[in-house]
Amino acid sequence: MRIDSKTQKVGLLGHPVIHSKSPEMMNQAFQALNLPFVYMAYDVEPDQLGQAVNGMRALGFRGWNVTIPHKVAVMKWLDEVEESAREIGAVNTVIRQGKKLIGTNTDGEGYMRSLLQETRLDLTGCRILILGAGGAARAVGYTLAKAGAEGIFITNRTAMKGKELAERLSRWCPARFVEGEHVKDVIRNTDLLIQTTSVGMSPDVDGIPLDPDWLHGEMVVSDLVYHPRETRLLREAKARGARVHSGMGMLVYQAALAFEKWTGAVAPVDRMQKTLEESLNPVIGTESEGKG
Ligand code: ATR
Repeated sequence: MRIDSKTQKVGLLGHPVIHSKSPEMMNQAFQALNLPFVYMAYDVEPDQLGQAVNGMRALGFRGWNVTIPHKVAVMKWLDEVEESAREIGAVNTVIRQGKKLIGTNTDGEGYMRSLLQETRLDLTGCRILILGAGGAARAVGYTLAKAGAEGIFITNRTAMKGKELAERLSRWCPARFVEGEHVKDVIRNTDLLIQTTSVGMSPDVDGIPLDPDWLHGEMVVSDLVYHPRETRLLREAKARGARVHSGMGMLVYQAALAFEKWTGAVAPVDRMQKTLEESLNPVIGTESEGKG
């Protein structure tokens, strides 16, 4: 790859970033299209975030991704935050437009693209159950609620967080918190079940967030965990005739959307997915990188 003064700088701000697969995935994608961009990961301590953002502004970065723990804190250092990111409550991508730094969030949209691409599910009239109520659930829930879902149920270990998310989502579509045995009743009429917690993630690969006998063959089961690629939940769902969707696609598509916002080119999604699969094989490291 040739790097000169015309090369556009993009990257990742996080802490830690050492295990990130994004530099490989992005740089391979730039190379595949022969685009003059270079992507690097920067490990920034939380108390240095403002300085890092201002440094990137001064250096003329085209944009960057933001990951744990900066997705919320970064907002106050930007000039604008798009409505979707504001509603989700987190920024995962920054784009420079002229002198302005704009924050956006591609997690929910990336999830939806991957889901539709792999399952061809019709979201209109879709009855959804989301397991979990953290950042990932917020991004996915917001996007699906706005995309025409008929209703969304949320269940979560900490009831209060689940109720808060249901209340938030009910601005766009009917949404309710459920728990205990009621989850079993809800699943009977669920078209799409989305698992957003870290249960089942390597190394605790036997973990499963609900009784697998509640699953049925008329549903799509989607797991945001991507390591292992086929979680126990997905295996049990498949065995009962359900269609399954793994978390790998979300990771690729949220990156592809950021790529497109920075370059204006259509992202080479297949190439990005292949790079990611190769770099995840045979083993990956820390907890935070086994789930979208
Ligand atoms: P992310 O941004 O990846 O969604 P997060 O915001 O920390 O991460 O949210 C993690 C979600 O997984 C939460 O819903 C959490 O439940 P709590 O709200 O009760 O903490 C859920 N979660 C994590 N570990 C879990 C476990 N062992 N069993 C059940 N739920 C779990």
